[in-house]
Formats: sequence, structure tokens, C-alpha cells
Amino acid sequence: MIFETIQHRRSIYPVQFNDERVPKEVIATLLEAANWAPSHFKTEPWRFKVVYSKDAKQKFSEFISETYKENAPKFSKLKYKKLQEMPLQSGAIIAICMQRDEKERMPEWEETAAVAMAVQNLWLQATEMGLGGFWSSPPIIIRDMHHFFEFNKGEDCMGFFYLGYYDELPPNAERGAIEDKTVWL
Ligand SMILES: Cc1cc2nc3c(=O)[nH]c(=O)nc-3n(C[C@H](O)[C@H](O)[C@H](O)COP(=O)(O)O)c2cc1C
Repeated sequence: MIFETIQHRRSIYPVQFNDERVPKEVIATLLEAANWAPSHFKTEPWRFKVVYSKDAKQKFSEFISETYKENAPKFSKLKYKKLQEMPLQSGAIIAICMQRDEKERMPEWEETAAVAMAVQNLWLQATEMGLGGFWSSPPIIIRDMHHFFEFNKGEDCMGFFYLGYYDELPPNAERGAIEDKTVWL
């Protein structure tokens, strides 16, 4: 049931991932789910870059940790180490990118929203398939991703989705009451 999947979706972090390989076909299914998100004027602004091979993960790990080192206003060795480790603990890292409409026919937030909807689709599909993940959005790293990926004009990075299989049950979560966030007229 969709409602159960929505409630069971959790942020699962790379340290919780096991070593099980994530097949390419599984990732392709997640991306297909993402691709069914809605978008204004059907611009389909979501773009993904899948960091999958061992070599690619190694390079990604080096890039994000060194970028952190260069840009961090207050360097933390722990954070640096975590950034080094996370990609290597993951089955794949999917960079979440947004392609701005060439004619800018709608405000940027609408395209950002469409990408977020695509990520939710991907995340729910991953949940159903027993995969965990989380959306990481470190601003001091993602602003420099054009030095790592090739972007088209108007394309930008909105973060990384770390993906992997896990053994432990995801933690229960709570939400504040929806009644406090809703006004009925
Ligand atoms: C747009 C977006 C960006 C996020 N960025 C981060 C992040 O940089 N680091 C992090 O630990 N979690 C990040 N998260 C995950 C949230 O912390 C997480 O979704 C929230 O704590 C709720 O937990 P749940 O996903 O298990 O329900 C992000 C989530 C979203 C939607």
C-alpha cells in the first residue's frame, strides 16, 4: 500500500549500509520511478548522475572530502573522514540535478519542486525494494560540483542521494500533528 510505503520511508545513512551490491537494473527502476514525477510545462527538469563504479566512487569520495577541506569555514576532521567514507560505503551515489528551462517560463522554485517530487518517487520506490538512502545537500560542496560532473548550461546540483541495502530495521519516526499545519475553510 502506498500509504505504508510513505510512512516507512526513512533516511538510512551509509554507515548503516551492508556490502550487498546494488544491481544496475535496480537503480534503473528507481530512476524510471523518478521520471514519472509531474512538472510544469512538462519540462521534466530532473537530471541524475549515477556514481557507480568503484573507481568513480573513489574519485567522488576524494573530490567531496577535499572540496570540504578547502571550503569549510570551520574544518572538522570527523566530518572530513565521514565524507571520505560515505561514498565507499554506498552501493551508488545519485547526484540530484536540475535543468533550468531554457526560456525560464516558470519561476525556478517550480523546477526545484519538480526535482524534489522526482526524488520522492525514487525514494519511495527504493523503500519498496528494500533499499535505504538519504538526500545529502552540503552547500559548500554542491556549489562546486561543476568541477566534477559535466553540466549543461542551466544545470545545477541539488545534492546527492546515497543508496544501499541495509540489515537493521529503520528507526521509527514521528511527525508533528498535521492538524497543526492545516487550516480548513
Ligand atoms: C532537500 C533535503 C535535503 C536534505 N539534506 C540532508 C543533509 O544534508 N544531511 C542529512 O543528514 N540529512 C538531510 N536530509 C534528510 C533529512 O534530515 C531527513 O529526511 C529528516 O531528518 C527526516 O527523516 P526521515 O527521512 O527518516 O523521515 C535532507 C532531506 C531533504 C528532503
